[in-house]
Amino acid sequence: MSKKVYIESYGCQMNFSDSEIVASVLVKDGYTPVKSAEEADLVLLNTCSIREKAEYTVLQRINEMNNLKARKKGLKVGVLGCMAERMREDLLEKKKVVDLVVGPDAYRTLPDLLSKVGTGQKAVNVLLSREETYGEIEPVRLDSNGVTAFVTIMRGCDNMCAFCVVPFTRGRERSRDPHTIVRECEQLVEQGYREVTLLGQNVDSFKWTSSPTPSPKEKGLSPAGISGERHSSPLLGRGAGGEVIDFADLLEMVALACPTMRIRYSTSHPKDMTDKVLVMMARYANICKYIHLPVQSGSSEVLNRMNRGYDRAWYLERMASIRRHMPECAISTDIITGFSGETEEDHQQTLSLMNEVVYDMAFMFKYSERPKTMAARKYADDVPEDVKGRRLAEIIETQKQKSAERMASYVGHIHEVLIEGVSKRSEENMYGRNSQNSVVILSRSFNGTELKPGTFVRIEIVRSTAGSLFGTVIQVLNEEPVAA
Ligand code: 5AD
Ligand code: SF4
Repeated sequence: MSKKVYIESYGCQMNFSDSEIVASVLVKDGYTPVKSAEEADLVLLNTCSIREKAEYTVLQRINEMNNLKARKKGLKVGVLGCMAERMREDLLEKKKVVDLVVGPDAYRTLPDLLSKVGTGQKAVNVLLSREETYGEIEPVRLDSNGVTAFVTIMRGCDNMCAFCVVPFTRGRERSRDPHTIVRECEQLVEQGYREVTLLGQNVDSFKWTSSPTPSPKEKGLSPAGISGERHSSPLLGRGAGGEVIDFADLLEMVALACPTMRIRYSTSHPKDMTDKVLVMMARYANICKYIHLPVQSGSSEVLNRMNRGYDRAWYLERMASIRRHMPECAISTDIITGFSGETEEDHQQTLSLMNEVVYDMAFMFKYSERPKTMAARKYADDVPEDVKGRRLAEIIETQKQKSAERMASYVGHIHEVLIEGVSKRSEENMYGRNSQNSVVILSRSFNGTELKPGTFVRIEIVRSTAGSLFGTVIQVLNEEPVAA
């Protein structure tokens, strides 16, 4: 009987993607992934530290594990990810129920750590690495819809935004060998997936330099190798030590290697997003016309204190460039309200930026001070909780109106939609996404045949709300190459 592991993930997509690496390591070690803690011999919580609330949710969940342990003798509990990194041995001290603490760069050591746990000891490994990318590990897809998948292209972050805990929990930035990325995407195509999202904390600083004499295998997978006619493309950089592949090159490599698959990515950084990336997005129909570009604040002064490396004017210029290259491109953002020293005037600047840009969607947060960060060391968390709450409500209300405006502007348009599954609201309907990443609801059948997840359809958008679009199917595309 093989041992059973249940992995529960919190936080960003990167964490969900890491859980698939963890599953792969454990499957090789004889474990079988299961879908609930009750069935498992080992429960792993892959955790997030981004805001205090995220940590609080996990700490509550850890407490629940006490009850489960009382009912299930021999059950082991592990904490992975960002909280493991931030709280380290403290976690074992404070939460007796925890047997194992493993940081984001130490997942290869899980089998050894688990043998130790098997002998009744506690085990910890929170070493961060400058090299680890889990490059060649083939993830075991968990909770997959069989249509869309995530592929991590880089790890860590060197940006040091003043509010952010990530550089402390995920360490220095490093890029994965692009050839392993392309191979993983090709495998996804073979397995029937139709969309991949390339993940990194700051994809725009993806950079990989090959050894001076690349192997024939590597050559065959390089951007020039995939597309003969692009051999002399000025867009492909070459460094003295070998081939330099940046994020735009990587996008091109994946777009050419997987022409029937849609490509998305997350997350961009306004200070680093280049026009070369926009050119690539516009050039390839299978790269989705959607950019998540966190602004954080509309006030240059706040951006400066946040150490974001750009000001309002720079951000608005990047917006204009996106619209110049791809008028149809959708843009979403992250906003933090109530950062240290944020005045009413700063807040008004954020609202005015939202009105100017008109985002399709936004993730909006109250500032939560995180230990060790530059802001925690340098500034006071001085915006009162009720003011943060009121500003957040105003930001959310503004975004609601803007989302509704954007969605309404799509009515009457023809969009290509990838069907992902049956609508949660009604069995009669399916849901999918257009290139712009809006959710589109459509009827489950077309011309008497049932539409299946993984099918591309052309749709006329007939109605909208602030959150989704409703469409009528015009044509089933399926095997045709995707067009944006
Ligand atoms: N408080 C509130 N929100 C934060 N984010 C990151 N750190 C904090 C924090 N300390 C938000 C940012 C980031 C998103 C992933 O989470 O908006 O882009
Ligand atoms: Fe949370 Fe950031 Fe860690 Fe992702 S990288 S899990 S968002 S703290």
